[in-house]
Amino acid sequence: MNKTAQAASVFRKTADTFAAGAKTLPQQYFVSEKIFKEEQTKLFARQWVLVGHQSQIANAGNYFTAQVASESVIVVRDQRSSIRGFYNVCRHRGTRLCQDSSGQVRAIQCPYHSWTYALDGRLIGAPHMDEVPGFDKANYSLRPVKLALWEGFIFVNLAPARNASTERGGYMPLEEWFAPLAGKFAHWNLPVLRSAKRIEYDVRANWKLIFENYSECYHCPGVHPALSKLTPYDSAENDLSEGPFLGGFMRIGKGKSLSMSGNACALPLGNLQGENHSRVFYYSIFPNMLLSLHPDYVMVHQIWPMSPEWTCILCDWFFHPEAAGVSDNSYNPDDAIEFWDMTNRQDWHVCELSQQGIASSAYKPGPYSARESIPAAWDREYLRSMKD
Ligand code: FES
Ligand code: FE
Repeated sequence: MNKTAQAASVFRKTADTFAAGAKTLPQQYFVSEKIFKEEQTKLFARQWVLVGHQSQIANAGNYFTAQVASESVIVVRDQRSSIRGFYNVCRHRGTRLCQDSSGQVRAIQCPYHSWTYALDGRLIGAPHMDEVPGFDKANYSLRPVKLALWEGFIFVNLAPARNASTERGGYMPLEEWFAPLAGKFAHWNLPVLRSAKRIEYDVRANWKLIFENYSECYHCPGVHPALSKLTPYDSAENDLSEGPFLGGFMRIGKGKSLSMSGNACALPLGNLQGENHSRVFYYSIFPNMLLSLHPDYVMVHQIWPMSPEWTCILCDWFFHPEAAGVSDNSYNPDDAIEFWDMTNRQDWHVCELSQQGIASSAYKPGPYSARESIPAAWDREYLRSMKD
């Protein structure tokens, strides 16, 4: 673990980092089309946005598409095993290339006039274009999208490159952006994990409500009776309490996990140290990732704002790649999936109720409790990012 991560690993009780006077955001942030568009251009088109995990495209030719801000992006593993990102736009007359959300191809071929691109983006076939004087295929490769991996997770960034001479504008390189988390999750082996299940949720609530709800357990006793039996709702301690990465851990019993049975349901993810066997870590990673690390599995939510009042959420449950092959019946992923599917739906329900109330003329920003220091910090980071 490097110095940055060590320095960050001082855990403080949630209430101890509360900034007095913090209130929820004004109504417009949850209902306004104008603010929604601003979020798309200022946040989702400028920051590193989670689109998937490398295990989703394990072999050459595997691809998936993602809609990032207003752009459709193709993420593909090329013949040399590199993962690449391209705008999903043909260089001939602009046609959408890949229409499916995932698949396997030998090359990317346009459905219109059959221009064909290699997996590394080079144009390799363009029927009859040799009749066009001066046409050179080398000038019409697919437009690349900046793509980088953090702990096996694939992020893309649509911002223009930073001006090298002034160090201003554009995007920050991924390693720099994630520097505060360097080495922090090494024991969980995130790059090699495999998703056992993905569930897609359509939630009739603003995307920020999902983050705010994830960031506190003040609501746990009333909303999550089963969760509250497994993890004391007031056990949260955070090592990241300001900025784009927020969160910490909550306690569980040793050898236990968050599952329907309350027991671990797969091999430990790695060589977890000390108390990490009895902790579940929850981190929000601005602007669209929720990372929940249990001793035996990792749950990841991708948060995709669709409109001011509608959010699409992709939730994956990742396990050790060898967990399924263990012969002692210890692998029971449904135990975890069922537990969090139930808990997720409880969360989405209260987020939808919040959305309904916030849309009322009676809504005014309300005071956060000291147990909501992390949602308050998330709001501060959000407002800072919207100003940039
Ligand atoms: Fe793609 Fe013509 S638009 S080949
Ligand atoms: Fe919850």
